[in-house]
Amino acid sequence: MKENSIHPPNNHEINELCQIINTNLGFKYDQQKKYLIVSRLDKRLMQLGFSNYSQYLEYLQTEPQEHSNLFALLTTNVTSFFREAIHFRFIKEVLLPQYCEINKTNRIIRAWSAGCSSGEEAYSLAIALREYLGADWDIMVLASDISTNRLQIGSEGGPYTKEQVAIIPQHLLGKYFSIKKIGDRTVYHVKPHLRQMVAFRLMNLLDHDTLPGNIRLNIIFCRNVFIYMTSEAKSKILSGFYTRLLSDGHLFLGLSESLNSNHPYWNSIGKSIYQKKLR
Ligand SMILES: C[S@@+](CC[C@H](N)C(=O)[O-])C[C@H]1O[C@@H](n2cnc3c(N)ncnc32)[C@H](O)[C@@H]1O
Repeated sequence: MKENSIHPPNNHEINELCQIINTNLGFKYDQQKKYLIVSRLDKRLMQLGFSNYSQYLEYLQTEPQEHSNLFALLTTNVTSFFREAIHFRFIKEVLLPQYCEINKTNRIIRAWSAGCSSGEEAYSLAIALREYLGADWDIMVLASDISTNRLQIGSEGGPYTKEQVAIIPQHLLGKYFSIKKIGDRTVYHVKPHLRQMVAFRLMNLLDHDTLPGNIRLNIIFCRNVFIYMTSEAKSKILSGFYTRLLSDGHLFLGLSESLNSNHPYWNSIGKSIYQKKLR
């Protein structure tokens, strides 16, 4: 079946789709986004053997797990290992010396990669924390995303391509990844000792009541996730972060994302790095 054999959605169908998208992703889509939506979804309808949007809307109702595919098609999941080196430098040079001073005895650190895509960010955090803090710290990284496909790669520890791991220094690559030849391709998988430090979880950040209320974190990375969200959706997510971050904890956003300089709840302390204002 050709791409143009999908019958375009009528106004009612577009409204229904926008409602699902806006409620779950925090966007503000309306009729004007019709062509963008269709350009992202037509291929999926073809894969499913549908010829119109009414069939797809019905499918979304009967197969709730399809929502994850829908969301993945409408969001971007570009990521990389050790993305935004300035953040990892800040952790090493500023944060961890402070945390070591404060947590001299308990030696526990908890981080969250919120919107982790296929796991590169979460594994980079785990490697950085292990390397900077050493073997005797209890380190856990929670990694969550709305896309089951992306999470599957993360939770299986790969495969990652040669190009994807190219940024990782050789000695760390050997320590944390195993290499496998598949035909003439070389692929990399995370070794078990690194995988054990990262817990993957399917979670919509707009619905983060699914995260245990008593969890308290030192570091939250939520980078390059807010991109198409309304300010209401961002505020909702930020208030969940506020509650779950320890008073001396830190929030990292993407380098192109920032909060108002006199934000009532967050102090800017570095490039897209925030600490909560105590109330
Ligand atoms: C561009 S990637 C960024 C990945 C990583 N944080 C980084 O900066 O490299 C954005 C990720 O956020 C996820 N995402 C978007 N909206 C979300 C939501 N409401 N809840 C959970 N994850 C979401 C997407 O599925 C995608 O994997």
